[in-house]
Amino acid sequence: MPSIPAISLVQLPPGSMASWEHEELTILLCNENGEIRAIEGLCPHARGPLAQGNFLDGLVICPWHAWEFDTASGQCTHNPRAALAVYPTEVRDGIIHVQIPESRA
Ligand code: FES
Repeated sequence: MPSIPAISLVQLPPGSMASWEHEELTILLCNENGEIRAIEGLCPHARGPLAQGNFLDGLVICPWHAWEFDTASGQCTHNPRAALAVYPTEVRDGIIHVQIPESRA
């Protein structure tokens, strides 16, 4: 699984989130108390831009109709059939790397 450099860790302080584009993918990067998470960045309801929502207690809230997603699991909190893809991350030399499946890299 290719590990793609995304953004600098200093651009994502604890409690913040940022949108990152790779090829046709929009990925939401979140810093939950120092744990860097990467999930699909467009809401499965109507493709709302999650980076423009709110990030609170590990949950991202979609700006359009307020669906909530757990940024660790990608799972929607009220709809068990809705979930976001989750991508493994690692920080090397101060840069956040996101592991993108081979077919999407
Ligand atoms: S587009 Fe996200 S809740 Fe509707």
